Amino acid sequence: MVRETWNGTQEDLRKLGAMMQRFEGRDPMESLIPLLHYVQDEYRYIPEGAAEIISDCWHIPMTDIFGVVTFYADFTAEPLGRNRMSICEGAACYFMGATDLAAAALDALNIQYNETTPDGAWTVSRADFCYGACHLAPLVEVNHKIRGPLTAEQVAETVRHSPANEH
Ligand code: FES
Repeated sequence: MVRETWNGTQEDLRKLGAMMQRFEGRDPMESLIPLLHYVQDEYRYIPEGAAEIISDCWHIPMTDIFGVVTFYADFTAEPLGRNRMSICEGAACYFMGATDLAAAALDALNIQYNETTPDGAWTVSRADFCYGACHLAPLVEVNHKIRGPLTAEQVAETVRHSPANEH
């Protein structure tokens, strides 16, 4: 699903207002993280403009909001790609060729780890932990789905031809 970035339009304000309304009557500090999940999911990052509105309406300092954003790996201050690939570099995947998968994906997209393609289609990151699915090594996680075992060619094909790669 293609999602838009924040432009501060009436539609953006309406969407953010609807998200905030879900927490009406609740403690703002307790609601902040679930609200940020909605915002991150919608925009693929926490836009400063959205954070300012949350800060004003819920009386939470901006430093507290961005403290949460930088602390939790689930949140980013920059837009992520519409598709996300995480390449497992845990021990089993590493020995089964994870670095070849990484090279294939990153070369095909012409980016480095943790970068997003200029068209916003893909962000690729390294997972240096084990997914607990070593029997599928080497594996990647694409948009929250585990895929493996994969070859470098299959990974390159995935980033080139994923339907979600379209605008
Ligand atoms: S090391 Fe990759 S799933 Fe275990």
